[in-house]
Amino acid sequence: MFLSKAVLIPFALLCLGQSSTLRAQSTLAATPPMGWNSWNHFAEHVTDADVRTAADLMVSTGMRDAGYIYVNVDDTWQGSRDANGELHPNSRFPDMKKLGDYIHSKGLKFGIYSSPGPKTCGGFEGSFGHEIQDAQMYARWGVDFLKYDLCSMQDPMRELTAKNNGNTDAAFKMMIDAYRKMGDALKATNRPILYSLCQYGIAEPWKWGPEVGAQMWRTTDDIDDTWGRMTIIGLEQADLAPFAGPGHWNDPDMLEVGNGHMTTDEYRTHMSLWALLAAPLLAGNDLSKMAPEDKGILLNKEVIAIDQDSLGKQATRLYQRGDFSVWTKPLANGKVAVGMFNTALDSRDVSLDLTQIGFTQGATLHDVWENKDLGRRSGLYSRNIPKHGAALLILSK
Ligand code: GAL
Repeated sequence: MFLSKAVLIPFALLCLGQSSTLRAQSTLAATPPMGWNSWNHFAEHVTDADVRTAADLMVSTGMRDAGYIYVNVDDTWQGSRDANGELHPNSRFPDMKKLGDYIHSKGLKFGIYSSPGPKTCGGFEGSFGHEIQDAQMYARWGVDFLKYDLCSMQDPMRELTAKNNGNTDAAFKMMIDAYRKMGDALKATNRPILYSLCQYGIAEPWKWGPEVGAQMWRTTDDIDDTWGRMTIIGLEQADLAPFAGPGHWNDPDMLEVGNGHMTTDEYRTHMSLWALLAAPLLAGNDLSKMAPEDKGILLNKEVIAIDQDSLGKQATRLYQRGDFSVWTKPLANGKVAVGMFNTALDSRDVSLDLTQIGFTQGATLHDVWENKDLGRRSGLYSRNIPKHGAALLILSK
């Protein structure tokens, strides 16, 4: 159940002077979380040295100062549990506390990964049966972010569903309870640890994610570095806008910008969509090999500002006409961010009807990617958009 603002404010005042941790928790993920995650580039090969280098590069490339704060170690850091059930990292990660200290020393935050099942998706040790113990350990290590990936918990869920003749109710309850268990364990540490659900959108986590303590939840299965997969995911989010807002975000998965299998126009489409969707921006590229065009995309201040807008609205699709769609995102300053997307295999001349977005008296247009003021326009605004390309505009009265 959500507390109204009227209840929250006196509660927050009560906490003042008592616990700075509690206050920090209330602002966790006020805007969509930003950072870098090891999976999309390093996958199961990631090492402590890779993560330290990534932290260094977050600073030297300007990623940190652009707002990318979390450095998240994904799957495959885990070793085995000792006789007390305490989980140790594997030999590629000699000392997680020291790694966390290093990340923090760079002005960054430290993220980690586990599963509610006995095994992670990579077959490493999950948190099943050790939730409280693991959460306490993360807090001791200085962890600031946990991605909790369903993985092997799907096996008992499938068994339960089969036993119930295909009815998924009990299996979904089992899953939600497991996510609540870790959410409670994280809260009990009194450390503000951002809780990121990864269960591929099963059972509509946007409806119960906040209740189990999550600040973000994956809405789909995995992204990969292809135009097809990226657009299937990005353009599928239209109905989820009501569920995003400060402190709770839909997550269409991490960014692939810079991983090499899409064109610059396609990566601009990717970044434009994620910014309009108020999606978490977790880069997944090799930071040591950032081409100028990738930097231009990931570090574009105006695009980031659209994503991070304090109103926290997720864009809705105004319309789709064949391969052309228009998405709009209201901003805190009363302006509107507009995305024009051409998913066709050739460039297209397209038009935007400004009256349809509510600008009946015309609008002042700014082109974000071109960083260019386009002046006053009214009625139809027409332009060419390249194959698989996007235009991102800011409209004001
Ligand atoms: C998947 C998850 C990926 C990555 C991978 C690690 O389930 O969606 O983002 O975390 O597991 O094994």
